[in-house]
Amino acid sequence: MRVVVNAAMSADGKLSTREREQVDISGPADFDRVDRLRADSDAVMVGVGTVLADDPSLTVKSGTLQERRTERGEPANPARVVADSRIRTPPGAAVLDDAAASYLLVSEAAPTDFVAQMENAGATVVVAGEDRVDLPAAFAQLESEGVERLMVEGGGELIFSLFEAGLVDRLSVYVGPVVIGGREAPTLADGDGFTERFPELDLASVDRLDEGVVLTYDVSVSGR
Ligand SMILES: NC(=O)c1ccc[n+]([C@@H]2O[C@H](COP(=O)([O-])OP(=O)(O)OC[C@H]3O[C@@H](n4cnc5c(N)ncnc54)[C@H](OP(=O)(O)O)[C@@H]3O)[C@@H](O)[C@H]2O)c1
Repeated sequence: MRVVVNAAMSADGKLSTREREQVDISGPADFDRVDRLRADSDAVMVGVGTVLADDPSLTVKSGTLQERRTERGEPANPARVVADSRIRTPPGAAVLDDAAASYLLVSEAAPTDFVAQMENAGATVVVAGEDRVDLPAAFAQLESEGVERLMVEGGGELIFSLFEAGLVDRLSVYVGPVVIGGREAPTLADGDGFTERFPELDLASVDRLDEGVVLTYDVSVSGR
């Protein structure tokens, strides 16, 4: 499975405010770029922190891009995937609506009645890991469901874990012309951080877009 991480960060590396409020970091041209990335994916993933903060639908917004997908024999929207060990995703969350398939990656610590509730809401529940989602095992199951191109939209906790597990192939980051600040504000990669064996990246492209820049990297040395 090919995993592409995409996020927008401020010039000082923050994904949102310390209150986890969304900030307009990018502009319309980047919005279209992200929509194309989604349309070129089999599934789009976030961590439950992002579901709780933003309630994103993760669907393709352009009707033309949706049509192109259906012409290729694909569903109009990629599947949505949430890493959510104990099922904190609310039953009414937008990622569970009927616009696309939904996968909840959970751990064995997820309460069984919540699992049933999510399955009743139409989600496919994938159990992997004892306490927290075992991402490599969960990804193997997603792959067996036909997910070959996975786009990850954040947030910082999930992105760090993916680098730590050596699961990221490409990183694209929009750097917007704003400073958010705040030591508690989410950054592109949070978690515990690396102290050695840092993942290493090859810079593939630099593109000016709106008033910011898109940096695209291929992962050359994974953090494992
Ligand atoms: N600017 C952007 O492009 C962008 C994109 C996305 C999000 N955001 C912002 O980022 C913030 C949310 O980021 P976040 O870092 O708080 O949350 P997150 O990365 O979206 O979700 C983290 C949560 O995922 C769950 N999880 C399950 N398995 C995991 C694993 N193996 N590794 C890591 N996490 C795992 C954990 O909760 P459990 O332990 O309960 O499972 C964890 O707390 C919001 O403010 C949102 O607005 C910005």
